[in-house]
Amino acid sequence: MKQVIVGVVGCGNISRFHFSGLEKAGARVKWVCDLNEAVARPWADQFGATYTADFRQIVADPEVTLVDVTTVSAVHKSICLAAIAAGKAVICEKTLAENPDDALEIVRAAAAKGTILYTSYMKRFMPAAAKAKELLPSLGRIITTHIRAHQCWGDQWGENPTEGFFFTPPGGKSLVRKNYGGGILVCGGSHLLDLVGFFLGRPHRLYATVNTPAGRDYDILAAALLETANGVVHYEALAHPLNKIGFLRDGWDEHVQITGANGRLDLYSALWDDPQHKVSVLVHYDNATGQSHEYRFDAVSPFDEAMRFFCANLAQGRQGAQPPTTGYDVDELIAHVQRSAATGQALTVAYRC
Ligand SMILES: NC(=O)c1ccc[n+]([C@@H]2O[C@H](COP(=O)([O-])OP(=O)(O)OC[C@H]3O[C@@H](n4cnc5c(N)ncnc54)[C@H](O)[C@@H]3O)[C@@H](O)[C@H]2O)c1
Repeated sequence: MKQVIVGVVGCGNISRFHFSGLEKAGARVKWVCDLNEAVARPWADQFGATYTADFRQIVADPEVTLVDVTTVSAVHKSICLAAIAAGKAVICEKTLAENPDDALEIVRAAAAKGTILYTSYMKRFMPAAAKAKELLPSLGRIITTHIRAHQCWGDQWGENPTEGFFFTPPGGKSLVRKNYGGGILVCGGSHLLDLVGFFLGRPHRLYATVNTPAGRDYDILAAALLETANGVVHYEALAHPLNKIGFLRDGWDEHVQITGANGRLDLYSALWDDPQHKVSVLVHYDNATGQSHEYRFDAVSPFDEAMRFFCANLAQGRQGAQPPTTGYDVDELIAHVQRSAATGQALTVAYRC
């Protein structure tokens, strides 16, 4: 097995989870890149890596086998395309791009070049999600799925914010849109669209509604009915002001409930940024016995698990079980949800790869 030699591009909030995962997966961090040297320098020191403000230096290094893209979503495309053109494997944070056309371009570039491409939707790698996937066949025919991300974002349902992360300046962009490309649909809802694909396969038809308050450039509610080969999915992403709801009573209320002919799975997914303390739970109800079993898991970071999976496959030179289309699928679904909401039409999802 060849050691993965990686350049990490983007050293903001999310990068600590990637650095941790890369280290545990045995990758060698050779380069650390950020426009802001102050946030990158400590990582360069920790890993004995070289700092650069220009990702092209990483891409030009023949020793580098992997570029890990953890910048804001708006610049994912240019970095991914440059890395792929140089024959590097890519791990890119979600969302892969800001629209499905750009995501498609990245996927097609990787296919043409024969390089490995992962979009890091780490919730697939929660031990509770992995166990749910393992138990899924025991449910028999899937009848219906309810999936929701209810996240506490403060009082977005009242007056427009006049400052801070959620302030939309007249004629300008809010920070939530600048950094993440949109509101609750893109931030939290994208993960659940990925989980729908992971558990049930690609949705082929949907009808959606989206609430974007007047004067703002981000949505605070997206709800949809999705049709899959494994039944209908009731989907909702919501920014709400309730501090103490959710199974850990911390305002985070994310839940996947899959009902089959033989039983039911309830996945309670914990707040993502404190994986050492907040752990997801899975409950399996079996109709034959009438018993429910609650699965509790060790505090394992899903980012570490994701990086372990990606690096193990990269070391073998193969894509493995997560297809390169993962990030594109979600970006395509987001666009269809937005279009359905804007037109009031149910849409067939036109996948282009
Ligand atoms: N998986 C999750 O649950 C999750 C959670 C939060 C954020 N994210 C995703 O992670 C990504 C980063 O989010 P964040 O919260 O860390 O943002 P951030 O703003 O904290 O960090 C982004 C960093 O990228 C750097 N950067 C921007 N353009 C660059 C360029 N051209 N070259 C080098 N560096 C550049 C910025 O200087 C900044 O330090 C986004 O795509 C976001 O959607 C995922």
